[in-house]
Amino acid sequence: MPNTLRPALTAIPAHLQTLLDYEREAKDFLPEATWHYLQGGAMSESSIRNNLASFEKIKLVPRLLNDLTHGSTKCQLLGQSFPHPIFLAPIGHQQLFHPQGEAATALAAEVLQSNLILSTFTNTDLHELKQENPFKWFQLYWQGEREKSLALLKQAEAHDYKAIVITVDSPHKGIRDRENQLFFQLPEGMQHPHTPAHIPLPELKNGEHPVFNGLMRIAPTWKDIEWIIQQTDLPIILKGILHPKDAEIALKIGIKGLIISNHGGRVLDTSIAPLDALSNIRAVVPDDFPLLLDGGIRRGTDVFKAIALGANAVLIGRPYIHGLAVAGALGVAHVLRILKEEFEITMALMGTATVNEINSEYIFRE
Ligand code: GLV
Repeated sequence: MPNTLRPALTAIPAHLQTLLDYEREAKDFLPEATWHYLQGGAMSESSIRNNLASFEKIKLVPRLLNDLTHGSTKCQLLGQSFPHPIFLAPIGHQQLFHPQGEAATALAAEVLQSNLILSTFTNTDLHELKQENPFKWFQLYWQGEREKSLALLKQAEAHDYKAIVITVDSPHKGIRDRENQLFFQLPEGMQHPHTPAHIPLPELKNGEHPVFNGLMRIAPTWKDIEWIIQQTDLPIILKGILHPKDAEIALKIGIKGLIISNHGGRVLDTSIAPLDALSNIRAVVPDDFPLLLDGGIRRGTDVFKAIALGANAVLIGRPYIHGLAVAGALGVAHVLRILKEEFEITMALMGTATVNEINSEYIFRE
């Protein structure tokens, strides 16, 4: 592995055919600590492995001889029509992986018409990203207090982001052994134009507990989420929900969609795989309530399986960062194209012409 970022490729070599090819290749482009920050997860990394394994357990049962000539990957979500259901998950600090960071990712997303969920911790200023692209949502990390969180939301509103995704699964960072072993830290002076890189911690009084009186004091609660819903006309989506009871509360207070996710296995190890949580949650929300799945998608067949089990769209995270590290915007675009084409061909082989037709009748669980 290089000591600093290796310059990204400007053309795509033939051996890069799959998302896993990009993963293998990306290792040669990133400094060791950055690689482990990207690839690593919480504690024993069981969730990372399980997220991937959950897709292997599901088998496809194709229907044949249907007329598919009217086929398309279009899908509707929150009143918006998306050309395909493969979205880019919010990932912060993207200049760790390529000098152009989120600007490169946004360009690729625009070309491939993929909905980009821009992270609170973007290194690229909202002003530098194209205002007109309609496929963009903004991810909000709670800023420790209501007014600061609202100020960030208002910036996204002003830049015409179409929805706000509040990540709620990480009131505390996961314990990440790989990062700790390598002393991973964000580079000094790294720019985060919209938020401090670290939200200031409350001062502890004598005898106060560092976790429960520290970060937990500034973590959001349902009351804060209810409050922020009232402050905007944009739909609010929660990211990181895994429990059906939380899905029910979210629905009741006016949340407009959920991203079923365990944060790529980066926060709470051994948490249920999002694909397994998905069916439990689909069972308690209305059929038309938007559910997205994030975690473990590496193949077009995975996209199909997630939709069959009740997702309306899916997010990819690490795989597009592999593309970014290897070949900048071109690499992200290629990763998206590979996955989209795999999904299209899977739809054709499964006998489904539209995303709406994909359901649990097309899958078999042992
Ligand atoms: C932050 O969201 C991380 O997973 O590192």
